Amino acid sequence: MPVQPAALPALPHWPEPPSDLPAAVAQVKSAIRARIEASGRSVAEVFAVVERQVKAEVADIAAARDRGEEVWPVIDYADIAAGTVPPRALALLRRRGCLVVRGHFPREQAQSWDRGIVRYVEGNGFFESYRGPGDDFFSSVGSRPEIYPVYWSPPQMQARQSDRMARVQAFLNGQWKHESAGTRWFEPDRDSLYPDRIRRRPPGTDSGGLGAHLDPGTLDLWMTPENQQAFRHLFDGTVEQYDPWDAAHRTAGPQYPGTTMCSAFRTFQGWTALSDMDRDQGVLHTVPIPGAMAYLMLRPLLADVPAGDMCGVAVSKAFPASERWHSLLLAALSGIPDVRAGDSVWWHCDMVHSVAPVTDQQGWGNVMYIPAAPWCPRNERYAASVREALRTGSSPDDFPAEHYERTWPDRFQPGDLNATGRRGLGLG
Ligand SMILES: [Fe+2]
Repeated sequence: MPVQPAALPALPHWPEPPSDLPAAVAQVKSAIRARIEASGRSVAEVFAVVERQVKAEVADIAAARDRGEEVWPVIDYADIAAGTVPPRALALLRRRGCLVVRGHFPREQAQSWDRGIVRYVEGNGFFESYRGPGDDFFSSVGSRPEIYPVYWSPPQMQARQSDRMARVQAFLNGQWKHESAGTRWFEPDRDSLYPDRIRRRPPGTDSGGLGAHLDPGTLDLWMTPENQQAFRHLFDGTVEQYDPWDAAHRTAGPQYPGTTMCSAFRTFQGWTALSDMDRDQGVLHTVPIPGAMAYLMLRPLLADVPAGDMCGVAVSKAFPASERWHSLLLAALSGIPDVRAGDSVWWHCDMVHSVAPVTDQQGWGNVMYIPAAPWCPRNERYAASVREALRTGSSPDDFPAEHYERTWPDRFQPGDLNATGRRGLGLG
């Protein structure tokens, strides 16, 4: 008989980032090991279960690639809108945890938004006033802006509060289990309009890309009580029951603070293409295995990782996926197919992702970052600061305090919100 979780030794936790990180890492790791062992299984045995599952997925991805198939699922917006998504496409979305939505917006609409953003930033003298990158999250970001710290352009808000966006977000949120143990963890049909930035990468760009990393948190993933609950099956010997699509305990606690962090719970991260982008032009890649989070969470417990090291995870920096600790996962890195302006791209919030390097990029690489962030206690709390940022044209709290748009007269105003926008910001 398995030991009941309540009878297992409790884990220490740190609601705030601990001051002595290596000591806290060593402490929580040995406590997790003791908890797993008290369940009657060894850490090696539990990790082997996860490794087998991940290896099977990596092999499936390699086989699909060898057959010349697209690794990323692709679903037409029209099928999402009509409720006619083929069961095979749905199954592949659940398996791979990522998706391209074809024709999410008409191509002309996306191109017109792209031009609208250019008018907005140029008309407000953004390039003359740009002071360099405001965060230290990724050291590879250069001094010329590729990521614009612009949040309140009319095109961004029009996309965020559009019916088409709401429909796709509800479809994606619906892939998650949002109710369990008598708790409704989030509202799948109501998004919280999480404001993020835009990227405009011009033709001819040479870019080193962005290393493989993930965004759901850092050391807080092991160290806060909410996350210890969310990942409970990994830590109590019931690893077979771990479900990457279960939102239980994920929608209450925030992340440890950092210069660029995400206070919101996102079911999927995503962006909408504002230009056509070919697959070999420095595009997004993911490790399309949602369950790989179990591997990432348990790998630091193995004996070859130094006691005070969480496989390189620190606070205030992106969670790295590295050849040293995660080479099995990185073998599955798969790029998006060619996308056209108006398509959108989505990936499960826990998944490893990277941006490939490019030399002499052909065409523009322009996107608006718009995730699926359903209404839940965590997102409701953050929405209060979003309302204030919208009112004053400020950079939202999760981002560096650059505030370029405060004096820009043509930014989107609260009075321009439609019913979806108001609901998303908690205004009715
Ligand atoms: Fe990221």
